[in-house]
Amino acid sequence: MAYETILVETRGRVGLITLNRPKALNALNSKVLEEVVAAAEAFDENAKVGAIVITGSEKAFAAGADIKEMQPKTYIEAYMEDFFADWERLTRIRKPVIAAVAGYALGGGCELAMMCDFILAADNAKFGQPEITLGVMPGMGGSQRLTRFVGKSKAMEMCLTGRMMDALEAERSGLVSRVVPAGELIEEALKVAGKIAEFSLPAVMMVKETVNRSYEMTLAEGLRFERRVFHSMFALADQKEGMAAFTEKRSAQFRNR
Ligand code: CAA
Repeated sequence: MAYETILVETRGRVGLITLNRPKALNALNSKVLEEVVAAAEAFDENAKVGAIVITGSEKAFAAGADIKEMQPKTYIEAYMEDFFADWERLTRIRKPVIAAVAGYALGGGCELAMMCDFILAADNAKFGQPEITLGVMPGMGGSQRLTRFVGKSKAMEMCLTGRMMDALEAERSGLVSRVVPAGELIEEALKVAGKIAEFSLPAVMMVKETVNRSYEMTLAEGLRFERRVFHSMFALADQKEGMAAFTEKRSAQFRNR
């Protein structure tokens, strides 16, 4: 498929999606939404891909939803099309999705990064929910996901003031897993994704599903869910292989079954 607003490639077993609207700092318009979701869904179905990375440019991961596209929208249009709801399709991708964030991740850009399974940040990354400065509020999950990542106090301050958080504060607050030098971001993200893609794909997918359940369930329900999924892993040939390889002091040859 030919894309207009993103670049799509595979590096080994990693699917790489690069947002590519440099003149608009990768602002997320409806075309970007359609293409990012389509590319991620195609990678999810591609047996040669084990993990996905979403990135932007060194200056901007994404500076938010496209303000120029949104400005004339009416309430009834937004309601009837359930504006932004299609981004939820990204959260239904079953393979791990890593956000590699350099530069601005603002509004929808920050929210897109938070839809991914974890965020690797460049040391020049800046995160924020500046919607309040436009007379609106986050609409792609920011008020809910940011609060779960960084806690109520910081999320509330960021959403109410539009203040940006730098990479170190984002790491300290639990928003990002790690900070790396900007020049090394893509290589590091591809390395991490490549490592994940070497493991048993069904095991990786079960880990992703189970960790994500922790946001939806009580602790008791989540622990029971974890145990049941863990039990089911004993049906995997890869469990037999992984444990045999350990015992025989050799590297495991996973076959994704
Ligand atoms: N939508 C549309 N266009 C955008 C944009 C956005 N979110 N962000 C930047 N652009 C465009 C600018 O209009 C400009 O285009 P022109 O050259 O045609 O004027 C181009 O990108 C470069 O931007 P700047 O000249 O502003 O670059 P800068 O380096 O001076 O500033 C910035 C960078 C601080 C990120 C600034 O661009 C900015 O504040 N952008 C808007 C950030 C924002 O408010 N995001 C939230 C959007 S609302 C939202 O996301 C809702 C939601 O919950 C999903």
